[in-house]
Formats: sequence, structure tokens, C-alpha cells
Amino acid sequence: MIKTYLVTGGAGFIGSNFIQYILNKYKNDIFVINLDKLTYAGNLNNLKSVEKNKNYVFVKGDICDKKLVANLFKKYNIDYVVNFAAESHVDRSINSAEEFVTTNVYGTFNLLENAKKAWQTGEDCYKAGVKYLQVSTDEVYGALTEKESSFTEKTPICPHSPYSASKAGADMLVKSFYDTHKMPLNITRCSNNYGPYQFPEKLIPLMFIKCKNKQQLPVYGTGLNVRDWLYVTDHCSAIDLVLRKAKPGEIYNIGGNNEKNNLYIVNYIINYLSKHFDKTISPDLITFVKDRKGHDFRYSINSSKIQKELGWKPEVSFEKGIELTMNWYLKNDKWIKDVLDGSYKNKTT
Ligand code: NAD
Ligand code: DAU
Repeated sequence: MIKTYLVTGGAGFIGSNFIQYILNKYKNDIFVINLDKLTYAGNLNNLKSVEKNKNYVFVKGDICDKKLVANLFKKYNIDYVVNFAAESHVDRSINSAEEFVTTNVYGTFNLLENAKKAWQTGEDCYKAGVKYLQVSTDEVYGALTEKESSFTEKTPICPHSPYSASKAGADMLVKSFYDTHKMPLNITRCSNNYGPYQFPEKLIPLMFIKCKNKQQLPVYGTGLNVRDWLYVTDHCSAIDLVLRKAKPGEIYNIGGNNEKNNLYIVNYIINYLSKHFDKTISPDLITFVKDRKGHDFRYSINSSKIQKELGWKPEVSFEKGIELTMNWYLKNDKWIKDVLDGSYKNKTT
């Protein structure tokens, strides 16, 4: 039986990788509807490889739009909802948080409500084989000191930024639809992703582009904040597994067991580009700038639950992942140029 996916935010970084991953894996056994508002972060150039695929359709729209989401459930026999759609950048949420609350909290509610209406067959009973998956983040757990142990699924939620607070709010709503209505769903909480198609406001693509152009590299504060980096296709494989195999109501942490501080990452990019692109690129480009407000010191994920219960493990080492990422950005000048000059916005189908 063909499985029909409603993927939201599929024109963004992880969503576009996920759509390519599942179409490649399941081929004619799936049909994918990509619902994306095309905010500044949505880029249809990310989906060129699938845009003519007969098992894929793009719908421009907002997850907060009640009528549109209801109509999608009427038009298609949706089995899976995978909600990537979000305002995702911490710095933007510090400058202005409204869109974060609207999309991340209300948008999630609207998807849940419509999925419940479409799927419920009786009290606490749902159509067979359906599932809602909320793509959440390790940032809902807050921050760790250098010595504290990694976040587990039992770590209390304690978000600090408006971004992570809005994601935590969404998680609570999703959980409530399981606790109250027994809706078949899961939540995944992943650490920092990197890889192709990441919008260059995030650390790795931002530093790559600036470094290649020999511009100053703005490192916040001391540069010693730690993130747990995971190559994006490893996140995709984990989501795929949770969607198809996990028991409803469960939450899974996903992480690369790969903690690095920001200075390590920036120096890695400098060394890579000086070796493979221009010998004169050097650490002199590093510039320490004012710290991010409320900057979380360290994230670290304990992903033993998904490893033990579902047999997931990350396949791509940090060295391999960075090489794949740097080579992708080096080969995709046009993608970068279109993002930087804004012409990616002209592509609407
Ligand atoms: P992104 O910012 O690259 O993409 C977000 C996508 O959502 C864009 O295509 C945008 O147009 C779309 N969108 C935004 N508001 C929308 C709305 N109201 N309706 C429909 N579409 C809308 O984000 P990303 O980095 O790909 O992250 C995807 C998801 O994964 C987010 O929920 C994020 O919280 C989560 N996450 C990200 C990371 C990471 O490292 N990037 C790690 C863990 C979890
Ligand atoms: O942990 C998962 C989260 O990872 C996701 O939920 C978010 O959507 C995603 O944006 C990411 O959040 P971060 O804030 O960790 O990612 P960002 O790339 O913005 O920053 C990574 C680290 O680098 C952080 O400590 C801040 C620092 N930084 C970032 C930028 C953009 C700098 O030092 N300079 C910069 O210019």
C-alpha cells in the first residue's frame, strides 16, 4: 500500500533533505505532499532533483491556515504528517519572537487538530497505520555545563530562547494530544544538524561563505560554547525509523555523539578551505564579537533510547560529514549566489 506523507517545511534545510531521502528510499511506494510557506528560509532550489517526480507535489501555504490544511486532508488520504515547518533561527527569535509563537505553536496545533479530525474513527481510535511526527530540538532541554551529563528523554524541559520556548510549547501540545486523545504520534529531539542546503545564517554555512570570501568570521563570546553535531541524512534516517517503527506516544533524542566547541568548528572550516581552496585563508579571519543574549553554553544528546529500541545509529562521522558538506558548498556556487542575491525567491514552483 502506498503511504502518503504530508511533509511541512519541506523547502527548508532538513525538510528538503528528508524529502529526497524518502523518495530515494521508497520510490513508488510513497506519495509526498510538501506544504511550505516559503519564508526567507524556504528555497525551492533545494528540491530541484525531485520537482518532476510523479510521487511529489509542492503546495505553497501556511501550516496555520485552517482551511488549507483541512482541504489537504480531504483531498489526499494522508498517512503520515512530518512537521518540520518552523521559524528555526535563535538569533531571529531574540530580535522578534511573534512569528515563532505563531508558526511553531499555533501552526503545530492546527496540524494536530486537522490530523485528529481526519484520522479519528471513535473515542481514542484512529485509522490504521497513521502517525504524526513532531520534529523538535535538543534546545527544549535548556543548557548544560561542561561536566553535566547529556540530555536524556527524561531531562526536564527548560528552554531559554524564544525559539526553544516556542518549540517546547509545541512539544507540550503534541504530548497532550497523545495523553488526552491517544493520537498516534511521536516527538523527536535532535541536536545541531549540518549538511547540504543549510541556509547561511547558521554557523557552518555562514562561516564557509565568509571564509571563502575572506571576510571576518564573527564568533560569539569566547567561542567555547559546545554543540553536538549530526550530519543531516543521519537525522533523516532516524525520523524515518521513528515514523515507521516507534510505539505511539514515545519521545526520542537523536544526536551524533559528536560535541565540538564553536572555535573548533570554525578552525576546521578555515583549515579545510586553506587546504582545498585558497592557501592564504588563515585563522586571522576570526573575530570575537558580542555574545548572543542568553547563549546556551552546551548541548549534548544521549541517544541510547533510539539506538536500543529502534536500532538507529549515526552512519556519517564528523570528518566525513564536514568533507561532504564543504564539497557540496564548493560545488554549488550558483545555489549560494541565488541565496545571497535573493533570486532564490523567484522560484515558486
Ligand atoms: P529551516 O529554517 O531551514 O526551514 C524551515 C522551513 O519551514 C522553511 O522552508 C520555511 O519556509 C518553512 N516554514 C516556516 N514557517 C512556515 C509556516 N508557517 N507554514 C509552512 N511552512 C513554514 O529549518 P531547519 O533547520 O530545516 O529545521 C527544520 C525543523 O527541524 C525545525 O522544526 C527545527 O526546529 C528542527 N530542528 C532543526 C535542527 C537544526 O540543526 N537545523 C536541529 C533539530 C531540530
Ligand atoms: O540544537 C539544535 C538547534 O541547532 C536547532 O533547534 C536550531 O534550529 C538550529 O538553528 C541550531 O541552533 P544553534 O543556535 O545551536 O545554531 P547556530 O548555527 O545559530 O549557532 C551554533 C553556535 O554557533 C551557537 O553557539 C552560536 C554560534 N554562532 C552562531 C552564528 C550564526 C557564532 O558564534 N557566530 C555566528 O555567526
